[in-house]
Amino acid sequence: MRIDEIKSAFETEIAKCQTLQELQELKVKYLGKSGELTALLKSIKDIPAEERPSFGAKVNALRNEMEQQFAEKSEALKASDMQRRLREEKVDVSLTSCKSLGALHPVTLIENEICELMTSMGFEVLRGPEIETDYYNFKALNIPDDHPARDMQDTFYITDSILLRTHTSPMQARLMEKKKPPIKMVCPGKVFRSDSDASHSPVFHQIEALVVDKNITLCDLKGTLEYIASHLFGKDTKVRFRPSFFPFTEPSVEVDLTCSNCGGKGCSLCKGTGWIEVLGAGMVNPFVLENCGIDSKKYNGYAFGIGLERIAMIKYGIPDIRLFYENDQRFLKQFGK
Ligand code: PHE
Repeated sequence: MRIDEIKSAFETEIAKCQTLQELQELKVKYLGKSGELTALLKSIKDIPAEERPSFGAKVNALRNEMEQQFAEKSEALKASDMQRRLREEKVDVSLTSCKSLGALHPVTLIENEICELMTSMGFEVLRGPEIETDYYNFKALNIPDDHPARDMQDTFYITDSILLRTHTSPMQARLMEKKKPPIKMVCPGKVFRSDSDASHSPVFHQIEALVVDKNITLCDLKGTLEYIASHLFGKDTKVRFRPSFFPFTEPSVEVDLTCSNCGGKGCSLCKGTGWIEVLGAGMVNPFVLENCGIDSKKYNGYAFGIGLERIAMIKYGIPDIRLFYENDQRFLKQFGK
């Protein structure tokens, strides 16, 4: 009879199934909406009433059996597929023919080193967008419309109000808008300026640091910078502040370190002065705190921005910033130890 025919055809076919794909097709063929067994169930109306119960029971029994067989076969196929993949995709880890290993880029090395150090002092590491709005890059940071930093020559504009960030400082404002003090964060990342020569690149890297809390002083800033400098360039490195100007810090300082090449005696690297300028810093301007919704009578803070290429150039004695971006392996290989 019809049921037995279907059953034996099914058994022959399922035995031949080699892949999960074939199994799925078979399932549709028998149990799908217009499958054979489904059709059989539908034909129940053509059967004499007294035979219906036993016919129905048989069809249902077959359906259960099929479902069980599909499940078992599916498990078996999955297992053998895994065995096959383990066999075929095996990698011989003992292979010794690897000729050159990659290495971290010197800028990445400096970034990692500084971020690790800052993390150990309780700073959180954040990353911000490289495409910024005029608001966060300038206005929130108290940079007025006529400030030279806004000059088309320095800034890559995308539209009138969207640009490639010229520094990592916008993250100061982005964070202070969201988070209440105490704040201790560093933000590493790419920055962009329309400038190019041996010491300037249109894209380079900075790390921004921001601390906002009660009773922060320039001494906290100096102590932190001394700690970083001694870590990067050796214990005897001294830190010097010179008065400077940034719209978003007040007072602002330019920070010099004793030249790591001559130890402060004077050489060609430091142009005979014994000092090398490494970063800009200052106490967060109260206007910036207020712009971001922080009460400047209660809280204050410091911020600094380090140029990573500059640090790497001093630390590794690299004479030209363009070497960082040429991907010359003879250059890159020297750092990956
Ligand atoms: N954003 C400044 C620059 O790129 C550096 C800086 C950061 C200065 C934080 C003061 C405070 O030149």
